[in-house]
Amino acid sequence: MNSRINQNKLSLVVAILTIGINLANAQQSKKISPYLFGLFFEDINYAADGGLYAEMIQNRSFEYSPTDNPQWHSFTSWEFVKQVFSYGSLNIETNDPIHSNNPHYAVLDIKHVGEHATGEFANIPENKGIPGVGIKNSGYDTMIVKASEKYDLSMFGRQISDHPIPITIILQGTDGKILAKENISVDSKDWKKYNVTLTVSENSDAASLLVIGTSEGKLAIDVVSLFPQKTFKNRKNGLRPDLAKLLADMTPAFVRFPGGCLAHGDGTDNMYRWKNTVGPIEQRIEQRNLWGYHQTMGLGYYEYFQFCEDIGAKPVPVLPAAVSCQNSGGTWRIGGTGQQALPMEEMESYIQEILDLVEWANGSPTSEWGAIRAAAGHPEPFNLEFIGIGNEDKITPEFQERFNMISKAVKAKYPEIQLIGTSGPFSDGEDFEKGWEIANDNHIALVDEHYYKQPEWFLSNLNRYDSYDRKKPGVYLGEYASWGNKLKNAIAEAAYMTTLERNADIVKMASYAPLFAKKNHTQWTTDMIFFDNETYSLTPNYYVQKMFSTNYGDTYYKNIISTKKDSTLSASCLKDSKTGDIILKMVNTGTKEKSMKVNLNKFKNLLFDAEQIILTGDAIAENTLENPNNIAPINSTIKVSKSFDYIAPPTSLTVIRIKTN
Ligand code: AHR
Repeated sequence: MNSRINQNKLSLVVAILTIGINLANAQQSKKISPYLFGLFFEDINYAADGGLYAEMIQNRSFEYSPTDNPQWHSFTSWEFVKQVFSYGSLNIETNDPIHSNNPHYAVLDIKHVGEHATGEFANIPENKGIPGVGIKNSGYDTMIVKASEKYDLSMFGRQISDHPIPITIILQGTDGKILAKENISVDSKDWKKYNVTLTVSENSDAASLLVIGTSEGKLAIDVVSLFPQKTFKNRKNGLRPDLAKLLADMTPAFVRFPGGCLAHGDGTDNMYRWKNTVGPIEQRIEQRNLWGYHQTMGLGYYEYFQFCEDIGAKPVPVLPAAVSCQNSGGTWRIGGTGQQALPMEEMESYIQEILDLVEWANGSPTSEWGAIRAAAGHPEPFNLEFIGIGNEDKITPEFQERFNMISKAVKAKYPEIQLIGTSGPFSDGEDFEKGWEIANDNHIALVDEHYYKQPEWFLSNLNRYDSYDRKKPGVYLGEYASWGNKLKNAIAEAAYMTTLERNADIVKMASYAPLFAKKNHTQWTTDMIFFDNETYSLTPNYYVQKMFSTNYGDTYYKNIISTKKDSTLSASCLKDSKTGDIILKMVNTGTKEKSMKVNLNKFKNLLFDAEQIILTGDAIAENTLENPNNIAPINSTIKVSKSFDYIAPPTSLTVIRIKTN
């Protein structure tokens, strides 16, 4: 009897001790968000059309107009060509389009086809090329083609004459040199799609595509499209492989799309409506891009979801909260007619459009919208889990009413979907407060915060999320960047990102913005990746993002790295339970080297040959397209021990990855 009592006492003591140890451990470590670091993608700075989207023909559907840009029209980027004394006419018509969503098409009337002159006239410019009348496109600024590579050309044609019209398709280099040539015959009185593959004979960085009618007759032409066969993962209607790979290499946990301000648009007519962006490209509704150009919607919802799947990222679509950007009609953040709201009588169908997105992404192939996804080639669901409602909107009564209606309907039909609310364009202020209040009242899963600030702001706000109420919605830091692409900007972001990791029990997601910027088309000065048609340059900010996203874990440990409360030092320690790796990040934002103490006694079975990556250099150094390698991380292997001092170089981020047995 006595021994049983003693045994019971012992068990009680052991239980109390275990709880005590667990509590102490719980305070020392915590589980963190599985999807903290992801990507923000918006078609700003020619990120999509002319950028990531691999289409090489600019204005392929003749839908450019002065609405996009005062200087633009249906033939922008096209040239009328009459070769070898041929003549005819070129017009835009709209009376019998391929589809009402795509109203404009070109009509070519070939009146006469010339003949090559001989003798002394053979060398005059007018006598060069293939005799005929046609159109020529030189792409987005330039068209680059590579020797031996294959390019898929497709175009829609409709014979207007009563006889078929022979067409020659040419990829042409400088001085009229023919790099590839194929023939088709437009032989149908109805719109028909023609496809040829062009194999290029030599490199050119100034190629153009010619579509030449080579005998008399009249025909209609639309959606002239040219893609390299080598796209990312060889997808049709796919992405530029080099740029897409840069994103894949970051192993982002999610991709947010299509914006940014592009999502809520410039006035209600300019909102990004997902249904306009799926289905065959010739049936998508193109529209003005509020960043001063045009959206073909060729990179639409299907392609975004497919890309997410291809790189193992969660899709995070952001839909308008039935209101447009508060700067509608003005320039960015300045003036305009203000936010425009969809009329109440349109709300029922607008809400249905959002519900339909969930069915399109996740529904069975036999459901109405799941069937449309399946018909596009994806019978399996896309596993949509998050939807953003609104993008940094002004929190007006109109917004609030519509947001509440949308969130109520989505929660009722799809309680498993995590909704993301919005809190205006700034880190604080009226919209920020009201946006959070609405999210709290509606029990929204996450709130999207946006802020672009000087690096000093990030360094003075390293405690921002320490005091956030853990019982309230989580944070999605959907857009942030310090103003600049110098190393010091990236390192300030790195210091801040260690605090995102520290608070990743409440900060669930974060994405730097914007992502891409094309040379000569950059509207936003601070971006993550700069590119032109041939190459790219990676900013220090890209390297920081990649060092964090590829070295993430699931548990945060505190008090592993001691920074002696030096305000120029920040650090974090994570464990990745899948691999057992311990990941240390150490940031020195100061201009002198500094020492930090690392104590790994808590961890067992450490292997002391560790991987180290350091990003450091001159604080004001940056990479450009001309000099892309001024700043780059350096990888090495180092020996660590259970407890060691780390000397952090000035202006640096160091990642040390320690494996365990
Ligand atoms: O990232 C660029 C722009 O900044 C986004 O479109 C907008 O949401 C923010 O104001």
